[in-house]
Amino acid sequence: MLSDKMETALSTQMNKEFYSAYLYLSMAAHSQFVGLKGAANWFTVQYQEEMVHFNKFFAYVLDSGAKVKLMAIEKPPVEFKSLKDMFEQTLKHEKFVTKCIHDLVDLARQGKDHPTETFLQWFVTEQVEEEANAGTALARIKLAGEQGLFLVDNELAARVFTPPAAAADANAP
Ligand code: FEO
Repeated sequence: MLSDKMETALSTQMNKEFYSAYLYLSMAAHSQFVGLKGAANWFTVQYQEEMVHFNKFFAYVLDSGAKVKLMAIEKPPVEFKSLKDMFEQTLKHEKFVTKCIHDLVDLARQGKDHPTETFLQWFVTEQVEEEANAGTALARIKLAGEQGLFLVDNELAARVFTPPAAAADANAP
C-alpha cells in the first residue's frame, strides 16, 4: 500500500522518465538530421532504456494497487549546438535523475516503505551506469575533438539495446 505522498512522488518520477525518453528521442532525431548516425543510434538506445525505466515504475505502481496518474510531458529541446553539447546535456540530466532517485529512496525510508525502498535499489544501481555511459562518451568526444568525430560516431553506432531480463541472463553463472 503506497502512501498518497509516495504515489504522487512515483507518478512524478514516471513523468521524468518519460521526459528523459522524449529528450533522447529528440537528440536521436537531431543527430540523424545532421548526419551523425552513430549518435542517432546511441540516443535511440538511450530512449529505449528510458521507456524501460518508465514501464518499471508504471508496473510497480499498478502492482501496489495504486492508480497511475499520467501527467503532461514537457516539450524537449529540438536544437543542439554539437555532439559535445548533447552529451553534456545528457550527463547533466542523468545527474539530475540520480538525485531524484536518491530523494525517492529517502522518502521511502522516512515512511518505512520497505517494498518501495527495495524496488528503487535497481534504479540506484542503474543510475551509476547511466552516468558512466554518458560520462565515457563525453570524455571520448572531448579527446577526439572535431577531427576525430567521425571515429567516435562509429563507436557510438556499436551500442545495442539489451532488455533488462536478457542482461540478467547474460550475467548468470
Ligand atoms: Fe531513467 Fe536515464 O534515467
